[in-house]
Amino acid sequence: MKCALLLGTVGLSLIITVAGLENGLSRKPPMGWMSWERFRCITDCKKYPDECISEQLFKRTADLMVSDGYLEAGYEYVNIDDCWSTMERDSAGKLVADPTRFPNGMKHLADYIHSKGLKFGLYQDIGTKTCAGYPGMKGYFEIDAQTLADWDVDFIKIDGCYADEVKMVDDYILFGEFLNKTGRPMVYSCSWPAYQEYSGIIPDYVILKKTCNMWRNWGDIEDSHSSVESITRYFSDNQQRIQPHSGPGHWNDPDTLVLGNFGLSYEQSKSQLAVWTILAAPLLLSNDLATVTPEVRALLQNRAIIAANQDSLGIQGLLLKTVNRIEIWKRPILPRVKDELTQAIAFVSRRADGAPYSIQVELIDDLGLSNSTYIKGYEIFDLFDTTRKPVYVRRDGRFETRVNPTGANLYRFVPKLNVILRGFTNPEY
Ligand SMILES: *[C@@H]1O[C@H](CO)[C@@H](O)[C@H](O)[C@H]1NC(C)=O
Repeated sequence: MKCALLLGTVGLSLIITVAGLENGLSRKPPMGWMSWERFRCITDCKKYPDECISEQLFKRTADLMVSDGYLEAGYEYVNIDDCWSTMERDSAGKLVADPTRFPNGMKHLADYIHSKGLKFGLYQDIGTKTCAGYPGMKGYFEIDAQTLADWDVDFIKIDGCYADEVKMVDDYILFGEFLNKTGRPMVYSCSWPAYQEYSGIIPDYVILKKTCNMWRNWGDIEDSHSSVESITRYFSDNQQRIQPHSGPGHWNDPDTLVLGNFGLSYEQSKSQLAVWTILAAPLLLSNDLATVTPEVRALLQNRAIIAANQDSLGIQGLLLKTVNRIEIWKRPILPRVKDELTQAIAFVSRRADGAPYSIQVELIDDLGLSNSTYIKGYEIFDLFDTTRKPVYVRRDGRFETRVNPTGANLYRFVPKLNVILRGFTNPEY
């Protein structure tokens, strides 16, 4: 990638001094569902009635989000991606939903989704066409912003195909102003960093976070562990540069969760979820909720993991170090005990060599814990198995864990003022 060449020159000079977009939205990473990765641009409803981009798909998804417990777990947006409109605007220049696939129009679908207690998201593009070739917004910003407001849209993803990578920034800002003028609060998801990074341009993150609630930093995710790994690698390679700009109201977005589809094993599903939790990433599912297995559903609805992802400090975590191809990721979360925060810590395996791999780390030297003299040790919770009793480790102690091939373990290290060493001095977890 071209952008890799630019990394060394950027360094740590960017400091958060400018507040983000203040529309009151996405104070925590947005959670919901989005059609693109799983359903792409399937438009042939005769051949693929259960998969085509249609009213039926989004109603079914909304129903399942409620009946299968996703809404209760926090997933609230139901977002349509590309391929929802007709190929031409109407005579007044307005966008029109495809009449065969959305026979009752978008407002009807929005009403249906809202009646379920969910929120409604839609997709458009800052350029002359959407990525799949449908009409884009260029030249129609004001009218399109009003159309979205008229349809009661709560979340709008604006893609960056068919637009100039440099000039698109002004257009994203302008469209954001039109969105604001409608008076309807909409989460504004932008894609300009992804387009700029791919072209070797370093995006202006200060303007970005004043303009958008979240943004795609890198390419589209696909249904494979290698795709999850390559996006994860983009985030760790560029973390010094991009991490400071994520926070309440303005998030880096590594793209959708692909758990529940064809490509990830159970262990690899844990890996994506663990990394996205550490990254404070939006949790937008892109799968067929009708076919998600109970095991994967339990992962997606794991309350301890969701709570860590949704931590109200909203600090994006970092790759701390890699030991024998096990990546150690760390993210500060609440609660704070005296002057030390709790840490979510993930051990993410890049190994595929058979047996679970055992790794032993020192809390102070390897994990950088215990910067406080008050803290005597840590209570450590396994977030993937909350039925396990927490273990207690002294601050000068060691922690051992075994990570399955291509999988990940995720823990919460809560600082303790006193440690009861229930027989554990060197616990293997
Ligand atoms: C519009 O912008 C103002 C100023 O940042 C903000 O207070 C307001 O909430 C915004 N309104 C909407 C609908 O986004």
